[in-house]
Amino acid sequence: MRLTTSHRDGLFVEGVALTDIAARFGTPCYVYSRAALTKAYTQYRNALNAQGFSKHALICYAVKANSSLAILNLFANLGAGFDIVSGGELARVIAAGGNPEKIVFSGVGKSREEMRAALAAGIHCFNVESASELTQLNAVAGELNTRAPISLRVNPNVDPKTHPYISTGLKSAKFGIAIDAAFALYQYAASLPHLVVKGIDCHIGSQLLDPAPAAEAIDKVLALVDQLARANMPLSHIDIGGGMGIQYHADEPAPAVADYLAPILEKLAGRKEHIILEPGRSLVGNAGLLLTRVMVTKPGEEKNFAIIDAAMNDLMRPALYDAYHEIVVASKKVGAGETAQTSKQRWEIVGPVCESGDFLGHDRDLALAEGDLLAILSAGAYGMAMASNYNTRPRAAEVMVDGNHLHLIRRRETVAELFALESVLPVKAT
Ligand code: LLP
Repeated sequence: MRLTTSHRDGLFVEGVALTDIAARFGTPCYVYSRAALTKAYTQYRNALNAQGFSKHALICYAVKANSSLAILNLFANLGAGFDIVSGGELARVIAAGGNPEKIVFSGVGKSREEMRAALAAGIHCFNVESASELTQLNAVAGELNTRAPISLRVNPNVDPKTHPYISTGLKSAKFGIAIDAAFALYQYAASLPHLVVKGIDCHIGSQLLDPAPAAEAIDKVLALVDQLARANMPLSHIDIGGGMGIQYHADEPAPAVADYLAPILEKLAGRKEHIILEPGRSLVGNAGLLLTRVMVTKPGEEKNFAIIDAAMNDLMRPALYDAYHEIVVASKKVGAGETAQTSKQRWEIVGPVCESGDFLGHDRDLALAEGDLLAILSAGAYGMAMASNYNTRPRAAEVMVDGNHLHLIRRRETVAELFALESVLPVKAT
C-alpha cells in the first residue's frame, strides 16, 4: 500500500488522511486500500498471462487470510476464484458474490455438513487429505445422488524454510498425503462411484521468500502426475497452493510476484493440465494497516512502554509467531501552542491486554507521545481474520479507502454484542 505524507495531516492512504479515519471511526481500525488490493491481484494475473497461462490458470484467493465480504467481493469482481477451509468461508464467498464453480475446498478435516453444503453449491473441487476423507465424501455424495470432484493434497516432504507454525510440507506435518502413498490412494479414489478424480494439490507453507522449495515440490508433483497419466488416470488440474511471502521489514527483500512465480511456472509450461493457485497473504498483506492510538506512555527503568489501544486480540501475529510488523507514526497530536515531540526514543509497543505476550513491537525507535496515531503496517493478512474478543474487547472497525472515498466495511462491535449469545443459570428451586 502506498502511504504518502502531508506535513499538516500526517500519513495518507490513497487520498484519505489517517487522522480523518480515526476521527470518523475511532481506533483501533483496520484500513485497506482498494488500489493496493487490485494491484496485487493484477500482478498475479499479469505474471500468469505473460508466461502463457492466460486461459488455463485460476487464482483462488485463500479466504483465511482476510475474509471480509468487501475484499471477497472485490476479488470476485476481478475474476478470482476462492480457496476455502470451512462451511463458514463457503457461506461468506457466496454472500460476497463469488462463483461457487471457482471454489476449491482445502483443509485436513471437513464435516459431513460442510461436504453437503459444498456439494449443493457445486464447487470446483475438494482438496482431500486422507483415505478416510475419501470414504466419507464418497458416502455423502452418494446420499445426495451426485459425484464429488476431488484432488489429493500431497505432502512432498520438502522444507519450505519458514516459521515452524506455518510450515506444512514436511513429513512430520499433519497436512497432505505422503507423496509415496498418493498413487495407491488415487487408485482407491478412482474405484469409488461417487467421486470424480480431477486434480492434485500441494501447499508447503506460508511466507516463503525463496521459490526454490516450491519449485522442488512441483518436480515431485509432476512426476506423480505423469505416473498417473501412464496408469490411465489423467488429471485435469494441478493446484500449486499459496505461500508467496511479502515484505514485513523495510530491510528485508521481498520477491516480486513475477520473479517468485517464474521458476515454478517454467516447470508447468506447455502442460495440458489447468493450473490453480491459492495465494492469500501476497494478495492482501500489504494492502492493509492497523491504525491505533497511543493511550499511555510509561517510561521504565529498563524499557519505555507505549501502551496503544490495539492489542494481541486485534493482531495476533507478533504474540503467536514473534512476527515483525513495521510501526510508523501516522500523525502527531499537537495541541494549540505545543510543538510535536520529535526526538526518537526506544519503545516497547504494547497493548492493554493482561499478558506479557501482548506486544505489537519490540525496541522501536520512534518519536511518539500520548495521543499520537500509529500505523502498524502489513496487517492486511491474518490480522482481522485471526482477531478475537479476548479480555471482552470488541473487534476493530474496518474501512476501505478508494481514492478520496472512505467506506466502512465492518463497523466496530459493541460490548453488548459480545455477550448477546450468553445466558445465566435459572434461579435454583429451593
Ligand atoms: N492454501 C492452503 C492449503 C493453505 O493452508 C494456506 C495457508 C494458503 C493456501 C494460503 O497461504 P498464503 O499465500 O497466505 O501463504 N496465520 C499465519 C499463516 C497461516 C497460513 C495457513 N495456510 C500467519 O499469520 O503468518
